Amino acid sequence: MNKLKGSDPILYSIVKEEFNRQKTYIEMIAAESYVPIEIMELQGSVFTNKTTEGYPGNRYHGGCYAADKMETLGIERAKKLFKAEHANIQPHSGSQANQAVYAAVLEPNDTVLGLRLDQGGHLTHGNRANFSGRIYRFISYGLSRERELIDYEELEKLALKHRPRMIVTGGSAYPRIIDFKRISDIAKEVGGYFMVDMAHVAGLVAAGIYPNPVEYADFVTSTTTKTLCGARGGFILCRREYAKAIDKGVFPGTQGSAHLHIMAAKAYTFKRAGTEEFKNLMIQVVKNAQKLGEVLKEYGFRLVSEGTDSHLLLVDLRPKGITGKALEEALDYVGITVNKNMVPFDTEKPTVTSGIRIGTTAVTIRGAMEEDMEEIGDIIKEVSENIGNKGKLDSIRERVINLSNRLPLYNGDYDIV
Ligand SMILES: Cc1ncc(COP(=O)(O)O)c(C=O)c1O
Repeated sequence: MNKLKGSDPILYSIVKEEFNRQKTYIEMIAAESYVPIEIMELQGSVFTNKTTEGYPGNRYHGGCYAADKMETLGIERAKKLFKAEHANIQPHSGSQANQAVYAAVLEPNDTVLGLRLDQGGHLTHGNRANFSGRIYRFISYGLSRERELIDYEELEKLALKHRPRMIVTGGSAYPRIIDFKRISDIAKEVGGYFMVDMAHVAGLVAAGIYPNPVEYADFVTSTTTKTLCGARGGFILCRREYAKAIDKGVFPGTQGSAHLHIMAAKAYTFKRAGTEEFKNLMIQVVKNAQKLGEVLKEYGFRLVSEGTDSHLLLVDLRPKGITGKALEEALDYVGITVNKNMVPFDTEKPTVTSGIRIGTTAVTIRGAMEEDMEEIGDIIKEVSENIGNKGKLDSIRERVINLSNRLPLYNGDYDIV
């Protein structure tokens, strides 16, 4: 970043500060990963200079020879990776991918079923603070109290009662495999569309260790971040019959010009996610999450749904008598980054919460194995028992620094100078 260092030293130093944080902290936010250096190269590439609207072969601007090749390559790679008939890789984010699908096939005030945000869903699945809950008539389904899995019977009852135009599933804090076939059957029964937002698990799907929703859903949306470990953006998959509607839903429906530099990075993301190396990474990500879950359970932590099939754990702190906010802050102090999260049937406010969400993608990219989960689990336990004890937390910070030194970011091959 030599240029930036000279022209804007203040901004340069802030980027450097963030890089230092990433190097010396153990990142366990379930939505995060460390992208390959190629992704940073592409996101910073000359494609950022090019403006265009439309799709390959049908643009509203000249000079799109290379842009068309790149977007076509990205689309073909996405289709191949997820065995989809059609892909749109233009959505600027996961939220915009969802917005585009809604715009493509729904009318304002249409009824839609979505998983409750405080039980694992996402804002764009009908939360009242979000466009989705304001434009469409979302009705929420939730989890069963006993097993803390999606209550498919309740979902079916709601579907039969409200006859929704669409059922949306997928989530931000749902650790278990979702029964896509069952929800698809319910959607068919009531004549509604079925959309899966696989943003969190797309990498696991690509690796073949989580069911592929493309088989069952009319529309599949995702980010290329999170477990897919790539570009900061979104995409949509669908059957050929919906291709035109979806493309129109993205442009001109909800977006303007394409972010070509990000789409180039998405094209790289899809290629990498089809490799054996990526598959092995995803297998280890899940093994690490399951191991960390076992360790935490041994220390008396309660896991929502008793464990995980994926990259994330949702820890219910109520039996420990601490809040998500308090543990998030104390872990941050020692250098482990997690986020506070509502647990099912939480009575705390979203700004406090009774839980934390922990993900293993980023730390596994740094080479962490099951034995490192024992150390991390032990650190989390120690921190939870010493909230407010600065001296003790300072000594735990040393353990986190040792751990992050053992697991160097980018194997030490990347630096900001
Ligand atoms: C399930 C799900 N869908 C959509 C999104 C939104 O993605 P973005 O933050 O790129 O808008 C997220 C991100 O947190 C998510 O977890």
